[in-house]
Amino acid sequence: MNSIDSETVQRKTFVSSVEWLDEVDSTNSHAINTITEREHFPLLVGANVQTSGRGRGGNQWWASAGSLPFSLVLAPSDYGLDQQQWPLMSLAVCLAIGEGLAPFVGSSTLQLKWPNDVYADGKKIAGILIETISTSLELVVIGIGINVNNLFPDAPVEVQNKACSVKDLTGESTSLENILISTLQSLEQTLQQFDSADSELLDRWRERCFLTGKQVGIDDSHRQSFGMCLGIDDDGALRLMTATGLQRFYAGTVISIDE
Ligand code: BTN
Repeated sequence: MNSIDSETVQRKTFVSSVEWLDEVDSTNSHAINTITEREHFPLLVGANVQTSGRGRGGNQWWASAGSLPFSLVLAPSDYGLDQQQWPLMSLAVCLAIGEGLAPFVGSSTLQLKWPNDVYADGKKIAGILIETISTSLELVVIGIGINVNNLFPDAPVEVQNKACSVKDLTGESTSLENILISTLQSLEQTLQQFDSADSELLDRWRERCFLTGKQVGIDDSHRQSFGMCLGIDDDGALRLMTATGLQRFYAGTVISIDE
């Protein structure tokens, strides 16, 4: 139920090579530290157990047994994406995970919280950490953590009420391999659609936007701004109607949400 067969994953998805480890500190760190340009991409690095998962903003990513941590190393240029479009890539990955999880937990429960968290029933079910590799201008590491069979009543108190897993929602265990394959298939489709500048993709994102219509605070590392979220723009920027007018954010952290 919980093991991943590398050959099956390679056969059923677009990944060209797989490194699946028993245990690792962080799949992102492992990929960044061991990657060579000679690999075949996309390269999938995953682990049964991740002991020091990293989250956005230097946070830790809590993931006990039963969760699904993996990183995908690829060249965005293979999908027609240049560096200016990387904010859109982060939205694409988020959408792909949401849609890849839909068959397992029900589509209507899944929402996307800008810039790249996946929510189910109002709680975080998956997170994404996209990093670049200092020795390569070409490659990015897309780290994805999905809560599958880990139970949140067992988690540290600070995450207990904010996150959930597939098992919390369905009451039963789900094959990690099936979720991995579904997510990767969805990701391949989404990346290919970006290549053809498909605006329908952004509409699919908007349908699931968790923040639209809510009073939101954003910290973009220069300042904190507060206002009503108007959803995402065609270039992926988040639109916020503040007391001083419309502001757009390409990056940042959501620091508050009020209904
Ligand atoms: C976040 O929500 O803050 C992002 C969490 C990303 C976690 C994943 S798990 C696989 C990969 N390896 C890591 O160390 N982090 C990412």
